Amino acid sequence: MIISKIKKKFIPLDTFIDFCLYKFKHSYYQKKNYFGHKGDFVTAPHISSIFSEMLSIWILLFYKKINEPKEINILELGPGDGTMAYDILSSLKKFKFLECKINYYLFEKSISLKKTQKNKLSKYKNIHWISDLNKYNKNNSIIISNEFFDALPIKQFIKKNKVWFERFVHYNNKSNKLEFIELIAKKNFIKKIKKIYNLNINNFIEFPTVLENLINNISKILKRKNSIFLTIDYGENSELCNDTLQAIYKNKKSHILQNIGNSDITYQVNFYHLIKLFKKNKLQIIDFANQSKFLQNLGIKERFEMASKNLKNLELKQLTESVSRLLHPGQMGALFKVLIVYNKKIKII
Ligand SMILES: C[S@@+](CC[C@H](N)C(=O)[O-])C[C@H]1O[C@@H](n2cnc3c(N)ncnc32)[C@H](O)[C@@H]1O
Repeated sequence: MIISKIKKKFIPLDTFIDFCLYKFKHSYYQKKNYFGHKGDFVTAPHISSIFSEMLSIWILLFYKKINEPKEINILELGPGDGTMAYDILSSLKKFKFLECKINYYLFEKSISLKKTQKNKLSKYKNIHWISDLNKYNKNNSIIISNEFFDALPIKQFIKKNKVWFERFVHYNNKSNKLEFIELIAKKNFIKKIKKIYNLNINNFIEFPTVLENLINNISKILKRKNSIFLTIDYGENSELCNDTLQAIYKNKKSHILQNIGNSDITYQVNFYHLIKLFKKNKLQIIDFANQSKFLQNLGIKERFEMASKNLKNLELKQLTESVSRLLHPGQMGALFKVLIVYNKKIKII
């Protein structure tokens, strides 16, 4: 079904990724639930609820910083199966010093994941789904996301003999296979890329096409009273771009052009691009750290010590392994980064 849509013409890479992940009922994120230990991949909220607990502490610290308003609005981008939302709401409920109404907004593209989220969060009140960030207009907004930006469709551009080409996907009727093809890049794209990256020092560019619009919408919310943005994702902050696109099929690396609609396609976020767009919108980057440092500053080790006292054998082993996976530089600790943006300089942790 997805391949039949591609057969007719050359498809830009970002459109191809959108087809594979979102556009049709056979697309990856529109089908069954792939999250968690039984699924295709495990994200930090599925490793241990201690991850979301730490985010709740961060939310609490921000709530204190803005002088404890009567109401806060948490807006999660790309909430997956709703695990992080569930655990954040459950932790916040336990904090005695957080006495305010909490509205939780979910920004989700997949119809099937929206259903999963609705089931998961059914016991909580004040849960809302939004489909247009531009229409969201609340003060006291805490925008959060985990592995949201790495799931955005990207374009790839390649420089050969000083000429820039864009990567497309097409169906080869002779070999009956999908293949990549490079066509000379359109001038308007090169103009857009030049605003972010220095093309003299780069030979390869990855460019999520919807990013600018998303960051502009987030920035608009951040200009409202007491609103902050925190995102966690895997990637770097570099003025140089690399080819990082990958497909994961049944927990293993696979080829982008194989297992269409059955594999997850991601790339490593270049925070340089996000930071540049936020700075253009005159916002302050108040923190950029690796996940390990961020979670340790919030007290994950102390929380682990406390929780360990009540655990034995297998449960203790599982928690020890989970915390190590979140913190160890060779695992998620260094590869994952945390970016926090606000409209003026403040210190939260
Ligand atoms: C890799 S998953 C991460 C899920 C979850 N945050 C986690 O950590 O387990 C990416 C999520 O972003 C959603 N998503 C991707 N692009 C989106 C867009 N443009 N608008 C809203 N949601 C989007 C996907 O449907 C999915 O829920």
